[in-house]
Amino acid sequence: MEEYKIKRVEEGLTTIEFPEFDKVSSAAPVFYNPHMEMNRDLSILAIQVFQKQQNREINICDLFGGSGIRGVRYKNEIDGIGEVFINDISETANHYERHNIELNNLDNVGVYQHDASMFLRMKRGEFDVIDIDPFGTPSPFLDSAGYCARRDSLLCVTATDTSALCGTYVEPCIRKYNSKPYKSEYCHETGIRILAGFVALTLSKYAKFIEVKMSHSTEHYMRLYLEVKKGSRKTDASLNNIGYISHCRNCLHRQIRPGLAASADEVCPVCGQKLIHAGPLWLGNIQDKTFIEGMIEEVDNKKINSEKEALKLLNKCLVECEAPPTFYDVHSICKLLKLSAPKFDLILEELDKKGFKAVKTHYNPLGIKSDAGIEDIKDILIDLNSE
Ligand SMILES: C[S@@+](CC[C@H](N)C(=O)[O-])C[C@H]1O[C@@H](n2cnc3c(N)ncnc32)[C@H](O)[C@@H]1O
Repeated sequence: MEEYKIKRVEEGLTTIEFPEFDKVSSAAPVFYNPHMEMNRDLSILAIQVFQKQQNREINICDLFGGSGIRGVRYKNEIDGIGEVFINDISETANHYERHNIELNNLDNVGVYQHDASMFLRMKRGEFDVIDIDPFGTPSPFLDSAGYCARRDSLLCVTATDTSALCGTYVEPCIRKYNSKPYKSEYCHETGIRILAGFVALTLSKYAKFIEVKMSHSTEHYMRLYLEVKKGSRKTDASLNNIGYISHCRNCLHRQIRPGLAASADEVCPVCGQKLIHAGPLWLGNIQDKTFIEGMIEEVDNKKINSEKEALKLLNKCLVECEAPPTFYDVHSICKLLKLSAPKFDLILEELDKKGFKAVKTHYNPLGIKSDAGIEDIKDILIDLNSE
């Protein structure tokens, strides 16, 4: 093993060491990204909630171990964990994973050197939690995850190829997720829905289906926590959550259309201009109230450095639970109408007075999730401007 200058980092209750590098990149001898600490903190909360809901000891697979920070933290900081399997294709990563297991005095944590898909194929049904945190897209590994995942297990998935999922690059999204995206003010939400839809369709061939427990889009990545269930009839029923979202670039109207082969409206019912379509994607819930409340409760039981930031995000995700797909961006609508933006809370109040659901969203500080139509929102913005 080459000699490296060693860096020591503390996250939560865990200390890890790895070769020092200048820039966070896949070219580092062992990958570690300090900007993903909140992602790891939230994973600890989510897996703890899942473990408590299962009420039994659970085994975890950290499929792309890197420095081992996830697997080591999961064993060290979550109660009720049996065995942890840390896998990475890199021998150097394996070396530091072993080192970090020892550094934290942990038993029952194994290190494996396999291609991720091979490892999942070899270990069918052995994991209660599979954490997929690769470079870029998780797409090539999801089929093996579908094969491997057992009934009532948790799949944690990170994607950092947000420019594909959000529709900046259309062809890569079609290629990787078999879904057509479009760029819009709510494209981070459609990105999460495309990823969830792709996982649901991939798992369905194994008669497995998903319930989305929590999802978020933060900085350069998206993260999903999915409970995997089994049964062919229930899988068929769950696929009713797959469909399309259509959008009008002229007036900002949007509409959803469940079903894989449903016929699409070609023109906007509000202004008559051409509609664009994204999908297939997941139209079902992407936040689960009980699960997120559980995560918020766990914050008090854990030592996490991102506490304030994590709580802020979790509370925003909580209010999104019962809101419909997509959101309105006040800034974009005001720009279209050549209006100045009224106070944000006044818009929420007006929507509420008119009997509409209206909540904030974690995707955008000027975003409103509402069951009101675009014309209702525009009327309110015009009225508030004339006051
Ligand atoms: C993004 S890093 C993992 C980061 C880590 N989970 C964390 O939280 O710090 C991706 C890791 O996947 C490993 N890797 C790349 N391709 C792989 C493959 N096909 N199978 C298994 N591991 C792979 C790399 O060596 C790298 O350590």
